[in-house]
Amino acid sequence: MTSQFLLPTKIVTGAGAVSQVAQEAKLFGAGKALIVTDPGLNGTGIPAMVADKLKAGGLAVDIFSEVEADPSIATASKAAEKARSFKADVLVAVGGGSSMDAAKSAALLVASGGYLKDYAGVGKVAKPTLPVIAIPTTAGTGSEVTIFAVMSDPDNNEKFTISSPFIAPRVAILDGELTVKLPPMITACTGMDALTHAVEAYGSSIAQPATDAYAIHAIKMIHANLPVAVHRGDNLAARGNMIQASLLAGIAFNNAFLGLAHAIASPLGGHFHVSHGMANAVMLPYVMEFNLPAAMEKYANIAKALDLGSAGEPARSLAEKAVAAVAQLARDINIPLRLRDIGAKEEVLPLVARDALKSIQLRFNPRLASEQDILALLKKAY
Ligand SMILES: NC(=O)c1ccc[n+]([C@@H]2O[C@H](COP(=O)([O-])OP(=O)(O)OC[C@H]3O[C@@H](n4cnc5c(N)ncnc54)[C@H](O)[C@@H]3O)[C@@H](O)[C@H]2O)c1
Ligand SMILES: [Zn+2]
Repeated sequence: MTSQFLLPTKIVTGAGAVSQVAQEAKLFGAGKALIVTDPGLNGTGIPAMVADKLKAGGLAVDIFSEVEADPSIATASKAAEKARSFKADVLVAVGGGSSMDAAKSAALLVASGGYLKDYAGVGKVAKPTLPVIAIPTTAGTGSEVTIFAVMSDPDNNEKFTISSPFIAPRVAILDGELTVKLPPMITACTGMDALTHAVEAYGSSIAQPATDAYAIHAIKMIHANLPVAVHRGDNLAARGNMIQASLLAGIAFNNAFLGLAHAIASPLGGHFHVSHGMANAVMLPYVMEFNLPAAMEKYANIAKALDLGSAGEPARSLAEKAVAAVAQLARDINIPLRLRDIGAKEEVLPLVARDALKSIQLRFNPRLASEQDILALLKKAY
């Protein structure tokens, strides 16, 4: 089997990195930038600060601040319309996965036109989009470097993914300072999303040495830094490490893809409007327990990377320690333990299992999961 490793995005990192946004935009010959963000973040002044930096560099700037959580097809169309009427040369996404995915989708619509859902699936985008500069403010989805945009179709209670190298942002600018005001529960859930990316990419059936390297390092960094970022949000070192770790996890899953936790998180979001991070955070320990027999060596390596266990300890015992460490991390940062605590309804779980089975991510899960397996897992987590 052959592997490929894609990293189409230029990465600019470090304290104050956001100051380089105008310089990066001008490399595309841009004179007009449209910032794409959400209303909550807009209230923090972060998008206005980015706008000031773009203006100081000589660019004209407008702001689209209507992105909702799990952005819809309609929101992407509205953002694209604004980009067209403003004649934007570049979109600057400022926010979490929702703003970044909305910007990626809008940039696609501006360049290629049509109806967004027609691009759902793999490789349906035929040409480059308007350039996107992504500035993540959660740590996080990794969307700043991925070839995916996850969008919602509210009419069908469904999320869908557009997957194409053309929609990866051209530049990602990472500055942990932008995440300092992220509230503790969003920090916890988005951090667990990043951990789920790393664990699922590491255990993936198409993992390769390059993805393993990014994934295992991300797991170590998240384990060491997420509790600090949650409980002492103004700790800049922890914030900086988390945004780097989420980037590494993003690079890993961009190439090794994901697994059962993400297959389940998507319909949990669709049916119960649970956030993506929260859905993964609750499911990850249960999914790891399910996967353990098929991912024993990989999970044992996770335990070793976290300095758990002792020399000569059998792989199964080490792997169990890795699962327990993830469950303990979730408890330490106040993630609810059960699906019932996050608004799931027991009678809808069969529909969640049915929808999870359709996910392409199941192909990369280390252990084969049937609809019955998934339903049993959901009931256990309920
Ligand atoms: N494209 C990908 O590769 C990919 C990967 C994983 C998840 N996703 C998608 O990303 C979306 C979730 O993104 P998310 O978890 O980053 O959350 P989000 O973008 O929905 O943001 C969550 C909340 O955090 C607030 N917020 C963001 N940054 C803040 C800051 N610095 N200070 C204060 N508040 C802040 C926002 O206002 C919002 O209310 C989902 O739709 C999910 O499916 C995409
Ligand atoms: Zn995710």
